[in-house]
Amino acid sequence: MRSVQEVPGETEGEARRRMERWSLITMILAVSLTVRWTVSLNPYSGAGKPPMFGDYEAQRHWQEITINLPVHQWYFNTSSNNLKYWGLDYPPLTAYHSLICAYVAKSINPEWISLHTSRGFESLGHKLFMRVTVFVADLVVYIPAILCYIHHCEGPERKKVSSLLCVLLYPGLILIDHGHFQYNSISLGLAVWGLLGLLFDRVLFGSVAFCLALNYKQMELYHALPFFCYLLGNSLKRDLKGEGMIRLIKIALTVLISFACCWLPFLTSLQQSLQVLQRLFPVDRGLFEDKVGNVWCSLSVILKVKKVLSPSTQVWLRPVLLLLHEIPFMATWFLLVSTFSMFPLLLKDGLLLPYTVTSLAFLLITTTLLSAFDKVSLEDLQLQPFSQGVRRYIPQFTIPPQFAKLTFLLSIIAMATLSMISATLSPPPQLPDLFPVLVSLFSCIHFLIFLMYFNILHLSEPLYKKHQRKVK
Ligand SMILES: *[C@@H]1O[C@H](CO)[C@@H](O)[C@H](O)[C@H]1NC(C)=O
Repeated sequence: MRSVQEVPGETEGEARRRMERWSLITMILAVSLTVRWTVSLNPYSGAGKPPMFGDYEAQRHWQEITINLPVHQWYFNTSSNNLKYWGLDYPPLTAYHSLICAYVAKSINPEWISLHTSRGFESLGHKLFMRVTVFVADLVVYIPAILCYIHHCEGPERKKVSSLLCVLLYPGLILIDHGHFQYNSISLGLAVWGLLGLLFDRVLFGSVAFCLALNYKQMELYHALPFFCYLLGNSLKRDLKGEGMIRLIKIALTVLISFACCWLPFLTSLQQSLQVLQRLFPVDRGLFEDKVGNVWCSLSVILKVKKVLSPSTQVWLRPVLLLLHEIPFMATWFLLVSTFSMFPLLLKDGLLLPYTVTSLAFLLITTTLLSAFDKVSLEDLQLQPFSQGVRRYIPQFTIPPQFAKLTFLLSIIAMATLSMISATLSPPPQLPDLFPVLVSLFSCIHFLIFLMYFNILHLSEPLYKKHQRKVK
């Protein structure tokens, strides 16, 4: 941090405001980190549940595999690497990250990662270690990216600071990473760095960051298409013979080199590369197994195909979290629903208390600090162009001003009720999955509506156009 007096030509008032801003940001960071740490004191996924345990054990097992086996065996089923037991199915960067963590683990207590004998290892010390790795990842990758993004946003200082607090206290990510146990802050954080690269017109930096995100978690592929389309369009807009072409070649080379670096140990033979790919995108696993959006889940309910759990709404998080600053009302709503959609999973992990506290706190701060609740006019929701467009065909078309607010309230009440019911009542014996299915269905309907809304927004006035203007 800079000290107050050092900036030349600054009036006393400006210096004071700058100091105030920095102390506010420091306080916000302290609050966000405290919340994360408090959530991490709770149980994690699969705690004390042999034989398979949960995501926590998966991450620990990857450390065990990567430090004890040569890199060429990581993704293969061998006598010392049974892929049926949490076999590595994330891209190489996750594996390297596990390896780094494993070195630290080994220096503290080699029992934590000894081959075979460490399976299902649980102790207070180990939990502390694992929690610290998530904490560090969040602190190093995700939080700085959000700080940078908010700093770049337009608007008065007060609003930016409020947005920062709200974004950093979004419960979904905190609960999944620091409660359930995952490292989404790394892949999401890298993706935000990629976006920042585009916003500041540092496309090569952005491409590298985004390639790293992709190589950390294959789910980032969902974000890859818009990302690379933007890059392509950005280059094509310039003339394709001179500057534009050079730019395009530079980007392509950057992407290729980044990928090659991440995949280096697996490029030694075709068999290696194919095996990794096969692990990342298992074709034979069936569409419904995991990592498939809510729509599929709900469809499968209707078709009674398979049990429903853990809908992955993270795909949407990056874009919507960053809209919190621009369209607080809809973003708050969406983010609350996305947290709610994970409720069955969080309940199973024993995270009811942190879920309740963080969700209520988030609702409170977004409504008070961002006045999300007062920003419901067509203009605030950026629906003005849309409603004008509709009115051209249906002249009497209006949206009552209280409509959005009322729906939001009803939806909140429904979520609270459904949460309370699933936490307290036991489902009827013939319908053991009743509550998770209801939660999934409820969230799915919401997501479809949000999808429509964000598409309308996008078509009537693309948000990134605004950013482009800002950059120029
Ligand atoms: C994978 O290896 C394990 C032993 O580590 C073995 O029990 C299992 O049958 C193997 N699976 C396949 C599909 O070969």
